[in-house]
Amino acid sequence: MKYEEAFAGQRQTQIDAVEELSSRLAPGSHVLDVGCASGRPTSEQLCANGMNVTGIDVSQVMLDHARRQVPAGRFVLADLFGDTTGLGVYDAVACMYCLVNLPEDRFVDGLRRLAGLVRPGGILLLAVPEFRGTEEEVRFVDWTYQPQRCLSEDLRRYAVLAGLETERVEVHAEPASRGRPNPGNSLYLWANTRTA
Ligand SMILES: C[S@@+](CC[C@H](N)C(=O)[O-])C[C@H]1O[C@@H](n2cnc3c(N)ncnc32)[C@H](O)[C@@H]1O
Repeated sequence: MKYEEAFAGQRQTQIDAVEELSSRLAPGSHVLDVGCASGRPTSEQLCANGMNVTGIDVSQVMLDHARRQVPAGRFVLADLFGDTTGLGVYDAVACMYCLVNLPEDRFVDGLRRLAGLVRPGGILLLAVPEFRGTEEEVRFVDWTYQPQRCLSEDLRRYAVLAGLETERVEVHAEPASRGRPNPGNSLYLWANTRTA
């Protein structure tokens, strides 16, 4: 699949983070993968690690791939910014490269919505590209877009505004791959929802 090929050889940081997430959860824990796309690598890895996985995405085409590739998962057509009340509450939520290129108010709203899907004291793992706020457009697969600035300090501030307790923000240089010789850094936010 063209989408999965775009990231070929670049997923090790994400895989390592999801491995850590799994190791911190009891077998059978309920985990939501927001923006699950084709189900790989995250939903598939969580299922393989014994988690009870629900993936959501706004793309029916991606969900069709996910259902085929990850039969152990439950995949639901849902918009994080829409009505998510029927989705339930999870021990952890992973949101890998879904809240991308959003202005601050929208990003904070997204984080708040993610927090609302995690039980008190549960874990939120979020990955986003780091951008320094240049004027340059970014090319990805078949389109270009203007990235919003997002640095480690921005992510920490957004987490506070969303009422989350930040555990840490990691900065990872992504390995280059075919077609993306300078992929830049990713930011990984580890946060907890507040206990009552
Ligand atoms: C860049 S992809 C990342 C996919 C996957 N998490 C990964 O790590 O490869 C972002 C995905 O998020 C989905 N998405 C974007 N906005 C969304 C929203 N508001 N609610 C649910 N899914 C969304 C897109 O359809 C897309 O499949």
